[in-house]
Amino acid sequence: MLHYQEHDATAQKTDNIISIPANADAMTQSSGLEKIRVTGGKTINGTIRISGAKNSALKLMCATLLSDEAVEMTNLPVALQDIQTLAGVLQQLGVALTLREDKTGTFHARVIDKPLAHYDLVRKMRASILVLGPLLARCGYAEVSLPGGCAIGTRPVDLHLMGMEKMGATITLEEGYVKAKAPEGGLQGADITFPVVSVGATENNMMAATLAKGTTRLINAAREPEIVDLGNMLNAMGAKITGLGTSTITIEGVEKLHGCTHDVIPDRIETGTWMIAAALAGGTLRLEHTSLNLVEALVKPLEKAGLEISEEGDAIIASRTDKPLKGTDIMTEPHPGFATDLQAQFMTMLTLCEGAGMVTETIFENRFMHVPELARMGADITVQGNSAIVRGVKKLKGAEVMATDLRASASLVLAGLVAEGTTTVNRIYHLDRGYENLVEKLSACGADIERIA
Ligand code: UD1
Repeated sequence: MLHYQEHDATAQKTDNIISIPANADAMTQSSGLEKIRVTGGKTINGTIRISGAKNSALKLMCATLLSDEAVEMTNLPVALQDIQTLAGVLQQLGVALTLREDKTGTFHARVIDKPLAHYDLVRKMRASILVLGPLLARCGYAEVSLPGGCAIGTRPVDLHLMGMEKMGATITLEEGYVKAKAPEGGLQGADITFPVVSVGATENNMMAATLAKGTTRLINAAREPEIVDLGNMLNAMGAKITGLGTSTITIEGVEKLHGCTHDVIPDRIETGTWMIAAALAGGTLRLEHTSLNLVEALVKPLEKAGLEISEEGDAIIASRTDKPLKGTDIMTEPHPGFATDLQAQFMTMLTLCEGAGMVTETIFENRFMHVPELARMGADITVQGNSAIVRGVKKLKGAEVMATDLRASASLVLAGLVAEGTTTVNRIYHLDRGYENLVEKLSACGADIERIA
């Protein structure tokens, strides 16, 4: 894995040094061939420090393209593969950047060499499309490869593009690349109404609108905490954004954005994953540097199932009582509803609850890829359309499993924590995209878990 070192953004391309440092191991989580082996049955007790939010950090990094001054970030989850992939995309664009092991990063887009994001890096991560709005706003022109296919449904980017067209951009698709050109005089503020709530389209257009002429209103905007975090950082850079956290976001365009220092919010999906782990495996977990506000929609269903949850300062304490877990229903929705990124993990918990629970997925089609794998471990799940009925079984049995996306992989690790015998999770590069030090964090709490070659 690579560590990206600061370089002079005005220097020749050949000076864009990407070097592998002597301490590469510390930064590295895995090669794609590794597996995780979990032996079930251990209760888990202890403290886990929650990392910075991946889905916030990625967008904050893209936002640094909007200014020619340096942006400093703290609580950046630098060990994640996705962060390093995006660092590569930014560096190709000419951003001087440093990611440090103390979870800080510096990003300096003094000059953008060429507003072109190549297929070779973009294909590795869909979120790379989020460089489009900032590049278009700053350079008046951008070419970004369309992200490749994704395991979770079709995931189009039409709404990202629709918003930019409303701001006056001309957009064409040529040879797999989105080519966007701002009108003479730059992007113009506009009213943009999204027919469905999209996190990415809200973010891309919010970033583009910061440097547009006049006022932009994003109507039916996403309200996720990551959107608020991005808006807060943009405001610290000199943007004029109001309505963050509501479904109408208003952006008054400004001439220029400047540098700032920003602390990335805690990862609510990691927080929720470990809360579910406590419910499943029993014991008490203290999750530090996070907040119940970030996981409100998860708290009620977990309490209903039988988890005790409290807050002490910036820590959440999640504790399983002796009583059996009870089945309960959930439905994924845009924030503040139940997060689709916690659906798979919650379903794993339901497989061992007394009674049944229904899981309805309304955000993505085809987000039940974990079901056949859980069934191989003995789960009783029936899928009908976008709903799954999970009937509790007495126990799960360890098996060799594999998942095709990040959160589904997490759900299989959770299943392994409670399954009888040993579970081997293949393709763990998915986990390394989104969970920092997963094995270390769980084993420090008593889980029998290790990486194997
Ligand atoms: C982000 C998160 C992802 C999370 C998802 C929903 C990141 C990097 N990823 O993804 O983990 O699961 O929010 O909370 O932050 N859609 C369109 N056209 C578009 C864009 C989206 O039809 O142009 C549809 C999608 O297919 C999906 C729905 O809108 O059905 C929501 O997707 P969206 O909120 O955009 O998800 P992402 O931003 O891709």
